[in-house]
Amino acid sequence: MSITRFPKGFLWGASTSAYQIEGALHVDGRGKSVWDTFAEAGRICDNTTAEIACDHWHRWPEDIALMRAAGFNAYRFSIAWPRILPDGAGRIEPRGLDFYDRLVDGLLEAGIRPMACLFHWDLPQPLEDAGGWMERTIAEPFAEYARICGARLGDRVRDWVMLNEPNVVACLGYACDAHAPGRNLGFEAMLRAMHHMNLAQADAMRALRAQDSGYTLGTVSNISPVRPETNSLADIAAAARWDAVWNGVLLEGLYNGKIPEPLRDIMAPFVLSGDEERIHVPPDLLGINYYSATTTKHQEGGWVDTGGGDGKCQRFTGMGWPVQPDGLREILNQLRLRYGNPPVYIAENGAAYDDLPDPSGRVDDTDRVAFLREHVVEVGKAINDGCDVRGYLAWSLLDNFEWGFGLSKRFGIVRVDYETGRRTPKASYDFMAQAARANAVEDGAGG
Ligand code: GCO
Repeated sequence: MSITRFPKGFLWGASTSAYQIEGALHVDGRGKSVWDTFAEAGRICDNTTAEIACDHWHRWPEDIALMRAAGFNAYRFSIAWPRILPDGAGRIEPRGLDFYDRLVDGLLEAGIRPMACLFHWDLPQPLEDAGGWMERTIAEPFAEYARICGARLGDRVRDWVMLNEPNVVACLGYACDAHAPGRNLGFEAMLRAMHHMNLAQADAMRALRAQDSGYTLGTVSNISPVRPETNSLADIAAAARWDAVWNGVLLEGLYNGKIPEPLRDIMAPFVLSGDEERIHVPPDLLGINYYSATTTKHQEGGWVDTGGGDGKCQRFTGMGWPVQPDGLREILNQLRLRYGNPPVYIAENGAAYDDLPDPSGRVDDTDRVAFLREHVVEVGKAINDGCDVRGYLAWSLLDNFEWGFGLSKRFGIVRVDYETGRRTPKASYDFMAQAARANAVEDGAGG
């Protein structure tokens, strides 16, 4: 057994998102979001809704207490845009701001650094009705919303995250109708939505920077190493293309102010002159959501991601996702080598499993503990490689509303009984607490 130690000041904690945990969808003036509409259309596979979810809107003090007891020093949460601006723009709802104000005070009192994400998928429906991320004009209301949140909370929230996983929103929400807003517009639309998210996040970062030059600004994406399924030239080329799409559109924009070379032609119709300079805002701190590596196989005329792992992978989570901890070290090193070792942190990493609670509600989730431990160890290796990794936040603090899967998939390190709202820490919570306290983990071999 060996011990992996982390640098002083390393961030340990968890992430959540507003729509997935808050509930209270019709409370305190909240406007409608695309996820409400998607759920109303019967698109949640277990027919649950986020109406109550974890009832975090009312139970947030308990949730802060759980993090404090774990010794966490950081927490990424999201602010619900439709709670602040029920119409997407214009009229401000003070009760929405009041909630996050209290939450932030509670976090600071508990010694937890609040990392506030401005957009974790719950786009106000009126903005979607105006075209959503398909329209470049959305950058303006987004930057305005960022300014409003900064003006109210920025004296205490110093870490601002613009977007969560623009690539996932664009792909699942606009290209292939698997997530809200449920549009099925194909591959070009995915790139268009991503480009508009690049514009919006850059404008918002500039707006916040103008408000306070001391903020730590960033964004978060699902970033994944793309591996060819075989060593054939065709598969290698397919992997390079998908890497340009999945990772490159965001990262090349942010760090280099460029549209990735393989995509220039296809993106030309909606990339206007000046856009490349505009999207070039190197973040102070980039968040990486990592779940698995991506394996790509060439298909005639396609940009296809086989998505099912590398065929050699024998372990899968309860989502059917391959368990590939080494991919995390790989992507961290890719970022280091490609973009001059930017400061990053793991903003999400975790797994759903079919948890079996004992009669007291306790879950001995050895599979999740192993998943987290193996990934944390890979982060340690990446740091040894020279990567500038500043923290590790588990997805997620609580079992919660897993989008199209509703309440049927549990990612939490704390179990939530959806009937009663009762929270029961799992073994994985103890693992994270130990890691946070020791600022170190054991590799697990031999116990
Ligand atoms: C994401 C989102 C989370 C998900 C989690 C599990 O990464 O997809 O940020 O909201 O719940 O990733 O799918």
